[in-house]
Amino acid sequence: MTAKELTVEEKLRLICGKDMWHTEDFGGKLPFVSMSDGPVGVRKVVSMREDGWQVAAPSIAYPSIQTLANTWSEDCAREMGESLASDCLDADVDILLAPGMNVKRHPMNGRNFEYFSEDPYLAGTLARSYVASLQEGGVGACIKHFCANNLEYNRLHQSSEVDERSLRELYYKPFEIASQAKPVSLMCSYNRVNGVYASEYKKGFDVLRNEFGFDGAIISDWGAVRDRTAAAKAGLDLEMPFTQATYDRLVEDYKKGLLSDETLDRCAQRVLDLVARCKEMRKDKTPKKTKEERLQAARRIAAEGIVLLKNDGTLPLQRGTSVSVCGCYAVPTEGMVSGGGSARVTWSGKTWNLPELLSERLGTKAKYEAAFMPRDIESFSQDPARAVENAAACEVNVVCVGTGDSIEYESGDRASLELPEVQVRAILETASENPNTVVVLFAGSAVDVSAWEHAVSAIVYAGFPGEQGGAALADILTGVVNPSGKLSETFPMSEEDVPSVNAYRDAQVSLYEEGLNVGYRYFVTHGVPTKYPFGYGLSYSSFVYHNLVVTEEKDGLTISYELENASERCGKEISQIYVRPIAPRVYRPAWELKGYAKTELKANEKKKVSAKLVLSDFAYYSVAENRWKADDGLYEIYVGASSEDIRLTQKVRIKDGKLLAEI
Ligand code: BGC
Repeated sequence: MTAKELTVEEKLRLICGKDMWHTEDFGGKLPFVSMSDGPVGVRKVVSMREDGWQVAAPSIAYPSIQTLANTWSEDCAREMGESLASDCLDADVDILLAPGMNVKRHPMNGRNFEYFSEDPYLAGTLARSYVASLQEGGVGACIKHFCANNLEYNRLHQSSEVDERSLRELYYKPFEIASQAKPVSLMCSYNRVNGVYASEYKKGFDVLRNEFGFDGAIISDWGAVRDRTAAAKAGLDLEMPFTQATYDRLVEDYKKGLLSDETLDRCAQRVLDLVARCKEMRKDKTPKKTKEERLQAARRIAAEGIVLLKNDGTLPLQRGTSVSVCGCYAVPTEGMVSGGGSARVTWSGKTWNLPELLSERLGTKAKYEAAFMPRDIESFSQDPARAVENAAACEVNVVCVGTGDSIEYESGDRASLELPEVQVRAILETASENPNTVVVLFAGSAVDVSAWEHAVSAIVYAGFPGEQGGAALADILTGVVNPSGKLSETFPMSEEDVPSVNAYRDAQVSLYEEGLNVGYRYFVTHGVPTKYPFGYGLSYSSFVYHNLVVTEEKDGLTISYELENASERCGKEISQIYVRPIAPRVYRPAWELKGYAKTELKANEKKKVSAKLVLSDFAYYSVAENRWKADDGLYEIYVGASSEDIRLTQKVRIKDGKLLAEI
């Protein structure tokens, strides 16, 4: 069907959505699509409570996107996309409003748990796999939120003032990479970008369509449209949800001749195409995975995304060890181990009971005491003394702490990177009675661990691991699974060290004065120490890196090296490839991620890893010339176990625009 076959009134209606979650169908005249959040499970709203709370049908809660990113595994991203597609087919959802992929500029952003990384390459490549598998499974993706929506603080009005180079190299980049998977739609953000509301951000929409090959529909964030006519002219195809006021104004504008038929037809056609594409995508599709297989996938992703931050040998726990567990996060409600807002899923299953899961695996009865609840900040609502007694009476003490949806949620940012005072006290007071204290941290973003890290023997960062997270965690704590996650964002020493420290200075304007100095780009370039760097994570195995060899190919360089598992246990290592320009002509971060691999190695096994680098991996965005440029000169290839643990290096050269292995 083409837009020409519709009346003007129908077209005006069509580009404004039907209701909260559907496109217009004119009482059955047109096919329509239904949309649901996204991104960590399907949040299909089935009714509305009197207080405005949207009641969602239960669905599998997968690990949050940040935990998925800590897997550094495109296989995991694919598995999650594929599983979600099956969930959507079951729930009759055509478009999943996911994934969120904004670059993490500041660890305090309340929605960081919904986003992948501070690095655009890691975010983009994982998002691309997620989108591709979701759509192969028959369900459309809606990549979000475009653009520069990096804080929730005054998100409806705040203007992100960002320079062009940072937009290109950081904030657009994940959208550019994910566009390769041909997502059927993209959602604009609420904020303004350099003064222009994201729903009217023509400059960015043109880049998406003309340069990144994005060919889907551009949809508004829910309620993000201020002026439907201006948004249509800028290239926003579909406003969601239907809003009478903006629709009435659109009709008036059309009558006054402010909206051309050409613009109206273009938007209407894109909505028709979106629906047709989704119907085609869904044709003959049935869920590829059974419910049980999806739960297994959720468990595997959690197991690969949990990060071991510190271990002096207390972990893994040996069978027969007596264990005390404290902290309400060990026996959580859903909200304690999820972020809040539109990404909040009503779990299909129950939450876990870590003391019970540990008891089963260890063959001893773990003691448990809640000690504190999430809303306890300065004083305990429970009895911490019993947790201290238990800790003193057992060989190992496990303290479960974290944030959850009362601290990390959509529409607000965290007030601090530190844990609530009572949680810190519970760690310190139990640890003073038991030197073998293991902290398990449930949080959607980096936490300042400096007040207690020195006092404990192990730290496990569980993220928000979804409904199978308890089982995955128990497997890791007891060594059934060897930890293999690494951080997709830096844990800074403290809040003051974050380069976008001035982001909160002004409610109206967020000045991106740190430019390219986001996350590890800042820390490695300026030699600022971090608590746990980007790309860091321990294993129960240790890995040795050997023999970096760079060979020249017609279209770039092949990088190969060997990984050796120097342990008696099977494990997985995430190796990372960074490019360092030596003496660049323009300012550049010291080194930047351009490749990564997750490799499984049996005990004592050696494996070769290979990757390809092409000229664009060496490029920066030249504002003077309005294009990407890879200048002639010397560069160094870094292969590392984290952004700060570089194991192998090799110099290469660009000469006359060609990559050379010999310098
Ligand atoms: C959020 C989006 C979400 C939409 C629909 C908005 O408030 O920013 O991410 O998809 O609501 O629930």
